[in-house]
Amino acid sequence: CGIIGYVGYRNAVPVLLYGLQRLEYRGYDSAGIAVLDRLNNKFIIEKKVGKIKDLQEHLWGKNIEGHIGIGHTRWATHGEPTVENAHPHISQSDIITLVHNGIIENYAYLKEELIKKGYQFKSQTDTEVIAHLIEDEYKNNPDKSLLQIALNVVKKLKGAYALGIISTIEPDKIIAVRKGSPLIIGVGENENFIASDIPAVLEYTKKFITLDDDEIAVITKDNIQIYNIHGEKVEKKPFKVNWDISVAEKAGYKHFMLKEIYEQPRTITDTITGFLSQENKELYEKIKDIQIIHIVACGTSYHAGLVGKFWIEKFAKIPVIVDYASEYRYRDLVIDDKTLVIAISQSGETADTRFAVLEAKKKGAKLLSIVNVVGSSLSRESDYVLYTYCGPEIGVAATKTFTAQLITLLLFSLKSALSKNLISEKYFEDFYHDLIKLPSIIERELKDIDKKTEDIAFKYHNAKDFLFLGRGLNYPIALEGALKLKEISYIHAEGYPAGEMKHGPIALIDENMPVVSIIPKDNLYEKMLSNIQEVKARKGKVISLITKGNKEVIEISDDFIEIEETNENLYPILTAIPLQLLAYHIATILGKDVDQPRNLAKTVTVE
Ligand code: G6P
Repeated sequence: CGIIGYVGYRNAVPVLLYGLQRLEYRGYDSAGIAVLDRLNNKFIIEKKVGKIKDLQEHLWGKNIEGHIGIGHTRWATHGEPTVENAHPHISQSDIITLVHNGIIENYAYLKEELIKKGYQFKSQTDTEVIAHLIEDEYKNNPDKSLLQIALNVVKKLKGAYALGIISTIEPDKIIAVRKGSPLIIGVGENENFIASDIPAVLEYTKKFITLDDDEIAVITKDNIQIYNIHGEKVEKKPFKVNWDISVAEKAGYKHFMLKEIYEQPRTITDTITGFLSQENKELYEKIKDIQIIHIVACGTSYHAGLVGKFWIEKFAKIPVIVDYASEYRYRDLVIDDKTLVIAISQSGETADTRFAVLEAKKKGAKLLSIVNVVGSSLSRESDYVLYTYCGPEIGVAATKTFTAQLITLLLFSLKSALSKNLISEKYFEDFYHDLIKLPSIIERELKDIDKKTEDIAFKYHNAKDFLFLGRGLNYPIALEGALKLKEISYIHAEGYPAGEMKHGPIALIDENMPVVSIIPKDNLYEKMLSNIQEVKARKGKVISLITKGNKEVIEISDDFIEIEETNENLYPILTAIPLQLLAYHIATILGKDVDQPRNLAKTVTVE
């Protein structure tokens, strides 16, 4: 979910709506705003199921005005996406309203206690308990300040949350609380903002303060005061950002996803140069006594981790395990100070990933994160950070950040190998020579394969299921190809290591099953060829991803997509892209919402 708050001289409504639109990547199943009508000292709350544009349409002609307000865009956890469950939530006697990002784990217990006291609940959310709790605390201590009241309530909450609270008791103040979920304060002149992230208010200010966990801020239009959980003042200096938000425009492309696929030659170049401009001496010194690496991530970032494992083991000779963050966190981890944990996350805010690796750090591991968003929570919580230099990724389905994560992992394994004297400078330079050719190969590839994948998409878009097969370095790409298709077209797809297919999934194959086979000319080529024959023998439809001109595979394939020949270690970067386009074209032919697929959020800040 995304939250925003405004206090100042402008009408809060357009500021909140603009910010919410920029926060939509955090969820978009319902949205709402609350502003304070000062004349009557009453809240006006408007909510709508659907996206921000639905809320905007709902507000047209309503002429709502207020100089303090909060807003929320939701990704449902507790309770369906209905108007009742949409935020802001309000307390029993309408004196407190608030927005929340996160999960209150002990809400069931708190709710029961409140019901016993006579509070009535309008929603199924965990958030509503906080509104009633604050009201209850106020009724028991009417002479305490709103800050004191909020501090008392926060102590009762278990879980992760970022809160924006406004009240009729102290009507000129926003109270902002952070524990676990991100929250920033935008510092303006005669106006101030809170938001889940910086771009939401970048239109109005370039000066920011990041709230840390267990901090609470009291914000008026001309003052910001931050306190720790004990109510003691904390001094924090604002920092300036000099980003431009124009990168977040579609630039003539039909969808952000397509634009981002096409940006890959540039983002790969930027990631290579960005990587090489950072020395990271300490990291490569430390790597010499690392005995095991744990890669922890979710979704697409997890697939990048699976490819990374191959490279790290091959070049740096360090054993690697890769785990889903949500699983890793709750295992009995065997960790010591010779363990390096690598968190991979586009956003740097995914709750599963953050909390999992923080647990490992607590147990003594060193933490390296590979993130795209500069200044994100993970980047601040890690011992070392390697950035992917992609700029904002707006499409919910990750594309350019995936290939940039691959590049970063590859360069990291080579640099580690270099530092351990496992490869020579010359080897590194030769490799670099191949690597730096990739952007122009991809530029050519995009021209050829866009049309080709569209044709294939037309032919197969009615299929009910897809199988994606690959081996070795390209096995994770099969997983990623299947994930992309599932995410945006809602077609069931499975990625599988091709050699394992005969042990189960082969039962699914018949003349209706398209099987996308990733088979570049690498060390597993012959093996992969046998696996395709097994599919053919069962009448499956074979769509092959091949190295240019490979007649042997063309002959046994129903359709094929060609990529250029390169260093075999680099194939995953080249094979990932046609699969992004295949998913994109199938989804657009089916008329799906490519940039904002149903039920998903780009950044999931709840566990
Ligand atoms: C969400 C997105 C996925 C993404 C995953 C991890 O589930 O829908 O596309 O891969 O989060 O996100 P991260 O920001 O940690 O890479």
